[in-house]
Amino acid sequence: MGRVACWPAGRKDIAAHFAIRHRVFVEEQGVMVFTDVDRWDRDPQTIHVVAASGNRLAGTVRLYRLDDAGLWKGDRLAVLRSHRTSTVGLQLVRFAVATAAAAGGTIMQASVQVQNTNFFERLGWTCSGPAAPYHGLPHQPMQIGLPGATTRAGSDPGDTELHLATEQFAASPLLVAG
Ligand SMILES: CC(C)(COP(=O)(O)OP(=O)(O)OC[C@H]1O[C@@H](n2cnc3c(N)ncnc32)[C@H](O)[C@@H]1OP(=O)(O)O)[C@@H](O)C(=O)NCCC(=O)NCCS
Repeated sequence: MGRVACWPAGRKDIAAHFAIRHRVFVEEQGVMVFTDVDRWDRDPQTIHVVAASGNRLAGTVRLYRLDDAGLWKGDRLAVLRSHRTSTVGLQLVRFAVATAAAAGGTIMQASVQVQNTNFFERLGWTCSGPAAPYHGLPHQPMQIGLPGATTRAGSDPGDTELHLATEQFAASPLLVAG
């Protein structure tokens, strides 16, 4: 288990961001069929985040503003199986919250797979309505107030050499389509 760093994906790591999401939501969980890419990925204001554990990319989250009143949404939280229970998920959530707060957000919402409700509650999130199906799977609406989250969580990868073995992300060419 290495140091965990989170940062907004750039040209070098945006493909890995999509590949991790695809592996978790399409291949592992089957929550989405074919692709988990949606219109928010084409919105230039959407922030695509990656996390590395040591020198390996390990997880993702995505966030975007929903309105001008400061409502933000976080989704596509995914950690590769081999990196789970190493706090990558926790740090991605904190990074998303801190990033939305730094952008002037007031509330962040998420639609959380019901088995992850406790995980989010421990991070200060609260339930904000009844669970409802999303892509056929029960999801719990949750939210967190942002004003307190003024410091940027996570850290910059700096000069860390990220070893993105191509076989680590043997991604389908369809990944970024749609
Ligand atoms: C949900 C998910 C993102 C969590 O990521 P993660 O990196 O495993 O998260 P963390 O390591 O920060 O914490 C996970 C749990 O492991 C525990 N944990 C953390 N470090 C640990 C360690 N060193 N040893 C044992 N347990 C540990 C945490 O307490 C936490 O427990 P909890 O679920 O009871 O709160 C990940 O499991 C995942 O990608 N799942 C599939 C996709 C998914 O469900 N996405 C979220 C949709 S809402």
